[in-house]
Amino acid sequence: MIILGIETSCDETAVALYKGDPKTGKGALIAERIASQIETHAKFGGVVPEVASREHLVALPPMVDSVLEEASLHWSDIDHIAVTAGPGLMGALLVGTSYARAAAMVNDVPIIPVHHMEGHLLAPGLQGELPAFPFITLLVSGGHTMLVHVKGLSQYEVIGQTLDDAAGECFDKSARLLGLPYPGGPEIAVLAQGGDAKRFKLPRPMLNRDNLNFSFSGLKTAVMYAVKGIGGSEEMSDTDKKDMAAGIESAICEVLVKKSVRACVQMDAPRLVIAGGVAANQHLRALLATLAKEKSIDVFMPHPKHCTDNAAMIAYAAFQNLRSGLFGDDEWDAMPRWALKR
Ligand code: KG4
Ligand code: ZN
Repeated sequence: MIILGIETSCDETAVALYKGDPKTGKGALIAERIASQIETHAKFGGVVPEVASREHLVALPPMVDSVLEEASLHWSDIDHIAVTAGPGLMGALLVGTSYARAAAMVNDVPIIPVHHMEGHLLAPGLQGELPAFPFITLLVSGGHTMLVHVKGLSQYEVIGQTLDDAAGECFDKSARLLGLPYPGGPEIAVLAQGGDAKRFKLPRPMLNRDNLNFSFSGLKTAVMYAVKGIGGSEEMSDTDKKDMAAGIESAICEVLVKKSVRACVQMDAPRLVIAGGVAANQHLRALLATLAKEKSIDVFMPHPKHCTDNAAMIAYAAFQNLRSGLFGDDEWDAMPRWALKR
């Protein structure tokens, strides 16, 4: 079974070809392309929805042609088109879903709408096999921070989430306070190397609350006051910025990791998956590996390029659902606010 995956929910245009064997559930990625719009949006300090849609429109068709060419395949070889139907930016989603619908009609290929978050949840399967159910997924991106109890395919229970800013948003907003460009997560990660994480006393929000929720807006405010305390980002030395970046990274990662480990213990699910853009953070990955080992929790981390938005995860999620007979013929539309819970 060959699936063409299409992802245009935010600021990455991505396409992928995945070939899987429905009997065994195993397969491999044949080809993929990811075109980031980061440089365009960086000028505005964040994603501009209308600009994102226009860029998807230009980038998507030649990217599909190019993966087919690389794989020496034709439309007649494609068994299904999997497209992100939500959640995401309405205009951006419409570009991917309209293209997919047109291609499906012209080439007589069935189309599968995929939930973007389900793509992230199942992404570790791209490396071979999915962890045994049940497992816990920490989903941390620019727009989401949630802990999901994955009891089986399509059986997802959100057991914790942020009450305000997402973890990626906290990285991005804090970076902005330090005068760093968008997206701030990777910028902070680079600056944090060699910085003294203990110099600035930053809070670990919600860590001692007896629940699995998060809150990051207070941390961002604490960063704002710490920067002001030095006289603003222009007055900060390179060392000040490095120490502050290390402090921010350490505070965010400590909360994420400790709550994820707590979720595994509480749910008696000793397997943990991390997904979403922030899961590319090396400090988070290292801290998680250490703390999880202490509690005998197996950690599954997708390759960093499959932590951020990509189409391989969309094709893979469609493949897993198809082989389990979970996709019906229901009518659907682009759904900017599609809830994960089923
Ligand atoms: O999943 P994603 O690519 O897009 C969505 O938000 O859906 O996640 C993007 C977020 C941004 O907030 C970015 O700053 C953050 O992931 N990010 C990182 C790193 N790479 C990306 N945060 C911390 N460390 C990184 N290495
Ligand atoms: Zn995402």
